Amino acid sequence: MQIRRAKLDDIIDIVKLEHTVFQESLGETFLYDELSLNPFARIYIIEDEDGFAGFIGVRVDDQAEMMNFAVIKEKQHRGYGTRLLQHVLNELRLEGINQLSLEVRKSNMIAQTFYEKMGFVKSHIRKDYYKTEDAIVYIKEVTS
Ligand SMILES: CC(C)(COP(=O)(O)OP(=O)(O)OC[C@H]1O[C@@H](n2cnc3c(N)ncnc32)[C@H](O)[C@@H]1OP(=O)(O)O)[C@@H](O)C(=O)NCCC(=O)NCCS
Repeated sequence: MQIRRAKLDDIIDIVKLEHTVFQESLGETFLYDELSLNPFARIYIIEDEDGFAGFIGVRVDDQAEMMNFAVIKEKQHRGYGTRLLQHVLNELRLEGINQLSLEVRKSNMIAQTFYEKMGFVKSHIRKDYYKTEDAIVYIKEVTS
């Protein structure tokens, strides 16, 4: 198992995974721009012996915001998500970034349970953030 920063070659796997778990994708152009043009954007990949297993996209300024996060369906609930998010939190902590925030669909109970186990705290609701569904904003103080 290894965690590394994404390369342009990873875009195909990321888009494919987004389509299977979210039925939509941020898209190849968006991901290309994130990786090659946006100095605030980072994408981390987790791989196992069979290859690509999942990714996290974050934007890091004086605080960090999660853009997207998913693990391949057949590889979920094996601890990969925990390891990947822990890795990102450790990197942010080392850089002195003190907060990571994210949005999650109100109906996505698995992700909410996951984030609460990881020490995230509910902050507020973003009404109709996903067109027909509210988002819950979660925040974690990275130093805690
Ligand atoms: C959320 C997600 C990234 C977590 O990654 P993961 O590798 O499955 O997570 P872990 O194996 O580290 O699991 C940690 C906790 O998450 C929850 N969880 C993960 N998969 C679950 C499942 N299939 N059913 C119920 N709970 C689950 C559990 O609380 C689990 O703790 P436990 O092992 O003590 O039961 C992954 O489930 C996923 O890709 N989901 C679909 C995409 C998504 O919702 N992304 C988040 C958008 S905001």
